[in-house]
Amino acid sequence: MIELTGISKTFTAKQGSIYALKDVSLSVKQGEIYGVIGYSGAGKSTLIRCVNLLETPDKGSVKVKNVDLTKLSTGKLREARSNIGMIFQGFNLLKTATVYDNIALPLKLTGLSKQMVKERVEKYLNIVGLSEKQNAYPAELSGGQKQRVAIARALSHEPEVLLSDEATSALDPDTTEAILDLLLKINKELGITILLITHEMNVIQRICDRVAVMENGEVIEEGKTKDVFTSPKHSTTKRFVNSLFSHDIPDELLTNLNESGHVATLSFFGESSGEPALALISKKFDIYPNILSGSITRLKDESFGQLLVHLKGDQAEIEKAVQFLKEQNVHVEGVKISGENKRVS
Ligand SMILES: Nc1ncnc2c1ncn2[C@@H]1O[C@H](COP(=O)(O)OP(=O)(O)OP(=O)(O)O)[C@@H](O)[C@H]1O
Ligand SMILES: [Mg+2]
Repeated sequence: MIELTGISKTFTAKQGSIYALKDVSLSVKQGEIYGVIGYSGAGKSTLIRCVNLLETPDKGSVKVKNVDLTKLSTGKLREARSNIGMIFQGFNLLKTATVYDNIALPLKLTGLSKQMVKERVEKYLNIVGLSEKQNAYPAELSGGQKQRVAIARALSHEPEVLLSDEATSALDPDTTEAILDLLLKINKELGITILLITHEMNVIQRICDRVAVMENGEVIEEGKTKDVFTSPKHSTTKRFVNSLFSHDIPDELLTNLNESGHVATLSFFGESSGEPALALISKKFDIYPNILSGSITRLKDESFGQLLVHLKGDQAEIEKAVQFLKEQNVHVEGVKISGENKRVS
């Protein structure tokens, strides 16, 4: 549905050139929710703005439904853009217009009849659960309600693609959940493909089918959310995964435990695959596993757990046990102290 190939973008600033995007390629399939996660300045907004050419890439092609947008005339580009809705962190509502008019005014500009405009506004306000607020002004709405209006406005043009630039970043956790549920509903019931960018792991973990991790203008890891987060390769991806679990263990204890064995995190899918694997290794190998801490969370529809364990035993037995765990689809990462910070390595 969306095919970005070799996208590069440089901004010229007083201090010199800023390489916001370096040779980024990614592809979003029809009907999926694709998330791009990265820390501030990674290039996420620049990337998403390239999808509807709010930002023109210096290099590369931007294909939506197999049409390269960079090659279109202004008229054709306008037409192609009407198939791409967008929502933002700051909602971008007109303060002086009612909820109804915030949605209706852009629709009128497309030449729809008054009756059609009315039908669309009512339909999409109903979908986002705000039918009663038609006559309210943005100042009378909560942040979550404002974002619902912005979503209804984007949907009212009946796009096949919805782009979301940090749509939940200004919202509290409960409201974030409600908006994420709404995005899931839109994806499932209307079949809209969603490309979103965020710096929050909970957004990715709740709704994204696939994910790309960005850093310094590059995609450093990409794939199914489950695959990327169960066996993260890049240190930044590991940091994001570790932010889901907090295993607070004093450094001295960690040092002591590492002397008598090996401290590791075991990540696994499914409610119960971690502990049985651990019980098995104590039977199969000359090893005493001890759970130091553990927690379980969800990745979209599946449970995702992590145990911090101490494997006590000889090096050779530990290695065999780790190998066995990996064969059971448990991702194993050794935990060491590095400098002042504990680091998974
Ligand atoms: N119009 C611009 N002019 C100059 N530099 C820019 C411009 N837009 C973005 N940049 C720079 O490009 C880099 C990527 O910015 P971008 O906004 O895409 O990051 P981001 O990942 O969305 O960050 P955040 O999470 O803070 O929104 C940054 O170094 C930023 O300062
Ligand atoms: Mg941004």
